[in-house]
Amino acid sequence: MDPRDVRHEAAELVKNTRDSLEAQRQLGLDFLPGAPAVPEPERPRSERERLLSGTLSLVETRQVLGECTRCKLHPHRTQIVFGVGHPQADLVFVGEAPGADEDAQGEPFVGRAGQLLTRMIEAMGLKRQDVYICNVIKCRPPSNRTPESDEIASCEPFLIAQIKAITPKLICALGGIAVSALLKTKAPLSKLRGRFHDYQGIPLLVTYHPAYLLRNPNEKKSAWQDLQLLQKEYTRLTGRPLG
Ligand code: URA
Repeated sequence: MDPRDVRHEAAELVKNTRDSLEAQRQLGLDFLPGAPAVPEPERPRSERERLLSGTLSLVETRQVLGECTRCKLHPHRTQIVFGVGHPQADLVFVGEAPGADEDAQGEPFVGRAGQLLTRMIEAMGLKRQDVYICNVIKCRPPSNRTPESDEIASCEPFLIAQIKAITPKLICALGGIAVSALLKTKAPLSKLRGRFHDYQGIPLLVTYHPAYLLRNPNEKKSAWQDLQLLQKEYTRLTGRPLG
């Protein structure tokens, strides 16, 4: 192209642009919007962030858990014991860890201690299917030993995600491991039981673990008093009388 034609075309372009801007200015447009914002690409969220976000359902939480190998308990288990009950339960019971029967059946609290828990739930006027039952730890510790802190830490996001998915009105912590995992306290159970504490805005009642009650039947009376408190608060918060 002849350089004179190029200069002419460039001058035309500048003139047309200036005319167009002047026309827009006369119409009242006194600024030019910048280029539309390009949305930031979504940062991939870590597994922990997803679990703690409160956006996962129980089913999704179970899917994230998968065939877990995150801690040293996995080679010892028969199966993961995730939790059982109503996915929108108003009341969640949290125990310690699966025992032999739970490991065999894949359901929490089905052995002797579990049968006592079922009777405790029924004594309150509820059924197992009305509540949700889970443990701090989802795999059976070898020889039913107490769960260790690294095992509790590795399972913790899943317990939190379960509670967030259910959003219960009440939580009942069964025994010392559940209490320390949820309330982050080392205070003895005897100082904490029989009253409500706060877990992220949810009232949490502390009581004895059913396995402890099997070994110490004289404490069943106190446990029943705890459950009566729970029963009363359940009715107050749900509007459903129990009997
Ligand atoms: N003890 C628990 O803490 N959980 C169970 O599931 C069974 C026994």
